[in-house]
Amino acid sequence: MQARVGDTVMRTAVAAGVAGIIGECGGCMNCLTCHCYIPAEVAERIPPASEDEAAMLDVVALAQANSRLCCQIVVTEALDGARFEIPEWQG
Ligand code: FES
Repeated sequence: MQARVGDTVMRTAVAAGVAGIIGECGGCMNCLTCHCYIPAEVAERIPPASEDEAAMLDVVALAQANSRLCCQIVVTEALDGARFEIPEWQG
């Protein structure tokens, strides 16, 4: 599936039926069902987490330093070919 620039990674994943990404709150950062891990080569292509997102990530079970909420990541041309990791326990 081709992601559309301007959509979020969460909406793209949900539309593609990616297991482990639910997006229950629609992207308003209160469900944590869009948690993913960001590979280093992708992290350098996206803005860092906002303070609000970082605060939410603090309560994610098994969060890692590279955890993000993919509802907060907007698809841009810079993400062409990017891959995101979904924790095994979410799938
Ligand atoms: S979709 Fe709910 S926090 Fe991301």
